Amino acid sequence: MMNYWSYLNEYKSLRKNILKSLDKTLMSGQLFFGNQMKKFEKEFIKHNNLKYGIAVGSCTDAIYISLLGLGIGLGDEVLTVSNTAIPTVSAIRSTGAKVKFVDIDHNYLMDPKKIEKCISKKTKVIIPVHLYGLACEMDSICKLAKKYNLKIIEDCAQAQGAKYKSRKVGSFGDAGCFSFYPTKILGAYGDGGFISTNSYKLLKKVRRIRFYGIEQNDKKNRFNKKYYSNQHGINSRLDEIQSTILNIKLSKVNSWINKRNKLAKIYSRELKKTSLVLPKVPENSKHVFHLYVVYHKKREIIIKNLNKNKIKININYPFPIHKMKAYNRNKNVKYHNLSTTEKMAKGIFSLPLYPSLKEENVLRITKIIKKILKDM
Ligand SMILES: Cc1ncc(COP(=O)(O)O)c(C=O)c1O
Repeated sequence: MMNYWSYLNEYKSLRKNILKSLDKTLMSGQLFFGNQMKKFEKEFIKHNNLKYGIAVGSCTDAIYISLLGLGIGLGDEVLTVSNTAIPTVSAIRSTGAKVKFVDIDHNYLMDPKKIEKCISKKTKVIIPVHLYGLACEMDSICKLAKKYNLKIIEDCAQAQGAKYKSRKVGSFGDAGCFSFYPTKILGAYGDGGFISTNSYKLLKKVRRIRFYGIEQNDKKNRFNKKYYSNQHGINSRLDEIQSTILNIKLSKVNSWINKRNKLAKIYSRELKKTSLVLPKVPENSKHVFHLYVVYHKKREIIIKNLNKNKIKININYPFPIHKMKAYNRNKNVKYHNLSTTEKMAKGIFSLPLYPSLKEENVLRITKIIKKILKDM
């Protein structure tokens, strides 16, 4: 079976460097909040042209902590989309806030035209999800947020490096949340996440919340008052081992994004005359192709035949969140019309795409798909 994603190929190429650096890290005697995490925070901010930021334990935590930092809780409403990964929604619900789903456009992203009718007096935050590696229509979303005095938290879990009008994601909202889950554009070898922000006030809050509300002073003492909490917080640390790995991988990530784009171009070129609906890249956007998602009404037949050819296919995601047991009868989950979300969920599937995938494999996959479609 062809590997859907493979961190192993990438690890093999970085192994010497990683093992040497990990030994150094482990010998340093510092497992948390050490030089590796501090270096990563600085470098990640620089790499993505962000203003401030902190590393945390995961993107789920990043969204939860950002919401807490903005004071979101019981009685508030947060807008997002239903075709996202579960954690976007679980992070909102963990704060006690209600979730309101906005329908999507034909790029699978929050449809700005459908936001306004979802806004009520209780709405406090919009969470646009830059799904599959493509940035949302941030001009329209920012305009609406300004008009209704709403905060924006960008879910950048799948879109590290993506650009909207030459600006990288994570720099538009009050906060941006990134994931370093191993399959992501920049992946650790375990969990990891990041919160970016343009607000120094929010930076200080989220920094406290990630560590039990304890004030962290990086300049002199590591902590002002070691065992004293200033506000309710949780434990969400990016450890030194994951930070060491991420520091090494950060220098490679642009070349991996280029490779993803190269493979995506081959898919688009080879499949353009078929009945598959292919991903479109808006003129003003830089896609990072975390996933290459196509749509076809008869996807089950196509997937079955691809599997027969030992090509494993994933669906991201087969169930919109509002259709899931955990959320479908929940009075804290609301939505109006999600017809595009529901239609897309029935036909989408993701073709294999990861940086170590060979061009000849992509050509083989496209050849098989063309034959399947012809025989259908
Ligand atoms: C869109 C989106 N948001 C949030 C997350 C949560 O990321 P993490 O696994 O780092 O908590 C993911 C990861 O699957 C995701 O794809």
